[in-house]
Amino acid sequence: MQTGILNRLATISVVVLAFLLAGCGSVVKNETVMLNPDPHSFSRPHEARVNHLDWTAAVDFDLRVIKATAKWRIESTRATEIVFDTKDLVIDSVATDDNPNVSWRLTAKDSVFGQALVVPITPETSEVTIRYSTSQQAEALQWLSPQQTAGKREPFLFTQSQAILARSWVPCQDSPGVRFTYNATVKVPPQLLALMSATNPLQKNNSGEYRFEMKQAIPSYLLALAVGDLSFEAISDRSGVYAEPATLNAATYEFADLEKMIAGAEKLYGPYQWERYDVLVLPPSFPFGGMENPRLTFATPTILAGDRSLTSLIAHELAHSWSGNLVTNANWNDFWLNEGFTVYFETRIMEELYGRDYAEMLASLNLQELRDEINALNGKGLSADTRLKLDLTGRNPDDGVTSIAYNKGYFFLRTIEERYGREKFDAFLKDYFAHHAFGSIDTESFTQYIVTYYDEHFQVKIDSDLFQQWIYSEGLPENSPQPQSDRFREVDQVLALWQAGRGLDMEKSKQWTTHEWLHFLNNLPGNLTTAQMQELDAYGQFTASHNAEIITVWGVIAIRNNYDAMLPVIEEFLIRTGRRKFLSPLYEELIKTPEGHKRARKIYEQARPNYHFVATSTLDKIIL
Ligand code: BES
Ligand code: ZN
Repeated sequence: MQTGILNRLATISVVVLAFLLAGCGSVVKNETVMLNPDPHSFSRPHEARVNHLDWTAAVDFDLRVIKATAKWRIESTRATEIVFDTKDLVIDSVATDDNPNVSWRLTAKDSVFGQALVVPITPETSEVTIRYSTSQQAEALQWLSPQQTAGKREPFLFTQSQAILARSWVPCQDSPGVRFTYNATVKVPPQLLALMSATNPLQKNNSGEYRFEMKQAIPSYLLALAVGDLSFEAISDRSGVYAEPATLNAATYEFADLEKMIAGAEKLYGPYQWERYDVLVLPPSFPFGGMENPRLTFATPTILAGDRSLTSLIAHELAHSWSGNLVTNANWNDFWLNEGFTVYFETRIMEELYGRDYAEMLASLNLQELRDEINALNGKGLSADTRLKLDLTGRNPDDGVTSIAYNKGYFFLRTIEERYGREKFDAFLKDYFAHHAFGSIDTESFTQYIVTYYDEHFQVKIDSDLFQQWIYSEGLPENSPQPQSDRFREVDQVLALWQAGRGLDMEKSKQWTTHEWLHFLNNLPGNLTTAQMQELDAYGQFTASHNAEIITVWGVIAIRNNYDAMLPVIEEFLIRTGRRKFLSPLYEELIKTPEGHKRARKIYEQARPNYHFVATSTLDKIIL
């Protein structure tokens, strides 16, 4: 798609763009517009762009649709059209403030990108109003029956907009380079609470009508809505937890350090710019671990391990309040700028709160995951996707959601930190966030900025080989940083003794948390006898674990080594959970044998209705 647009744009020089810009409102940051066009959006924001949304919506749980009006405030130069992204929307009417009968049109449907909604405008047009309904196929939306919730009494709805699914519930310029503020009025059944990535109510009201305001400008992929039987509990003056009543206590216990995390993050890289930070714990079918919806992180209940051992995920989503939400990847080819910076920031928050060794355990697990991912991508003939800078033109940006952006991104930034010193890198990062706040950036602008910054502030010339090796080359560069964890060294010793036939040291593992156990499991030999599997299980109580991370890693080992005692646990877990990161490895391991494939199909048939589109779009390709 889009080749026409791309070719046309390639011929527009930066000078012309700058000239066009001069006529634009001041909301648009220079950085945003100088960037390359977004291959995953039909919109042409350099010609005409949105800057504010008024959204009025009614959520219908019987029909499973949202009926809504999106009134967009726009700014344009001499454009004669404004273009929105849509997918599977039923458009009832479109009007502009200077033409109630404007002759809008939808282009032909693309199975990944949807349809462009093209609306004629004049230089006087300042508003476009679109009345529409979502459809049953709306890919961002997951409608849950009461049975799929913790309380089992009320239905639930949540959205997942990243990367390009916002267009399936709001007609929008669905590109991370376009920011807008928004207000919303949402009507839901009176026994339910509605929440958005905006100012949020603390409790239900009798009318079921909720008003939201988001006065910090955000890109469309951060639009979010959740509706359900939800309650709130405060953690500090500016943070708290929303969850179903049945889950709220466990969640508040798990996230007790939330305020400390926010304060730690601010100490590192500057003030938190979104006023409140709350976490919403969703039902288990949420397809991700977490989603950094501004002011309200959406999180999977699978991080409620009961021992606070999986809270780095909250540090991660919180860190996105700087890397991602404040300074945003220009388009999905630069996804590592969102996620690599966030993993770096997350790890620093954890170090700040719990010490270096804790953070080094996380980094070490990430390195392992990165090595596995590189091997897997090479095995699938996708070596080009092991570069940080991606070319996803014509592909679904979801293809770029791999450990590369996260962990190769992390180790690249850590390389710069270690090479030139932490103090310099911290000063740089703080200024990077401040300078680009509420704007977008691509990889090339980033490298240019850091080179100039180090030169001007520290008279240090950053070695450009670093960019070549890490950003534009495949695989993991030599001399990649090596995390050092004493706690993992102890695990290694236990494993070495066991492999030397000297048994498993019970004393040593008494204090182990999820991290040590994961390291232990990750470093077991590939082939294990049933007797060995039993011995290991007795040692770590893995089959009986309620920790989703452990169940997944042990589950894969169990399938590989025909340890059938684990099969019922895996089956139950696959039906109950919808987090893609756990589902994919288990199904991938199952389908390696004909018998396992049969089992996988049977489980999938039962579990699929419980999964979000994000998960089924990946799993259909693996299993069916
Ligand atoms: N923003 C991502 C989730 C995402 C990425 C959704 C791309 C859609 C497209 C979120 O911040 C994230 O990275 N979540 C991780 C957790 C994290 C600790 C690595 C996840 O869900 O596993
Ligand atoms: Zn992330």
